Amino acid sequence: MNINERLIRLFEQKEGEFVSGEELSATLSCSRTAIWKHVEKLRSEGYVFEAVSRKGYRLLEKPDKLEPELIGRMLKTELLGRPVHYYEQLGSTQTLAHELAREGAPEGTLVIAERQTAGRGRMGRKWHSPKGKGLWMSMVLKPRIPLQFAPQLTLLVAVALCRAIRQVTSLPAGIKWPNDLLIGGKKISGILSESISEDEHPLYVIVGVGISANLREDDYTEELKAVATSLQIESGKPVDRMELLCRFLEELESLYALFHQQGFGPIKLLWEALSVSLNRRVRNQTANGLIEGTAIGLDDSGALTVRLDDGTETKWYSGTIEF
Ligand code: BTN
Repeated sequence: MNINERLIRLFEQKEGEFVSGEELSATLSCSRTAIWKHVEKLRSEGYVFEAVSRKGYRLLEKPDKLEPELIGRMLKTELLGRPVHYYEQLGSTQTLAHELAREGAPEGTLVIAERQTAGRGRMGRKWHSPKGKGLWMSMVLKPRIPLQFAPQLTLLVAVALCRAIRQVTSLPAGIKWPNDLLIGGKKISGILSESISEDEHPLYVIVGVGISANLREDDYTEELKAVATSLQIESGKPVDRMELLCRFLEELESLYALFHQQGFGPIKLLWEALSVSLNRRVRNQTANGLIEGTAIGLDDSGALTVRLDDGTETKWYSGTIEF
């Protein structure tokens, strides 16, 4: 960790308290002039400090930008988010991640944009991605699994996302099969997984994640407002996007390692514990019409097991369920 990183950690530990120049220079083993220079450097990156003589400095605000240098300073992963490709604006992070993966980008490569002009959702839907209000990102993964298990990876991402949101915001986020995240019945996040495969093995999977972090009521159309919400609307205060991003990547990295070591079993248990779909009436619009039943569990492949009203059980491998 370099001095700037240590300085930020220290201010974060002191949470809004003043830290004297003396304490800073003793802890970081450098002169008061050097501390001043580091504080000025951090200010130029968007950190806001209050400086009061005889009291020292206190951190008032952290920059709300997802620039790679700032991510690198916070992130504790080894694989995910290494490297980060950051853009103020992109059509879709998903499209660029595909291009990078085709050109040989390493596993863990992350594309992140402050705004998307052509954000894509599942089933050809559009994804609303206004500037600086959310986390709009796509990541290159190269899982060592047969193609038929690729849906498990999406469920794994949903678990990582749900755990990260709960830890950072304390909001009761839950997973709606297969991978929407809801709070109070409204959507706050979605996952779009796209696999490119050869000989029944994925060459790479592009995992796109959209988290509606700091959108306000007036960022939504009336139509969207009925079905979607944001973490800020639900908690009444803005969420630290950087903290959420890092928490998510760290959760994902450890679950991804667990998945490769122990298979889907432990992930399935975590998914079930966070699910808001199980033991509920669900409906799915299929090619054969609307099917209705009660969701009773996940099977080992990641399909939803549904008990139909005549008592028979069926499995849903994809689709969008309604309650
Ligand atoms: C869904 O719920 O339908 C999935 C939404 C996925 C949206 C994300 S935002 C970042 C990435 N880029 C895109 O164009 N889509 C995904």
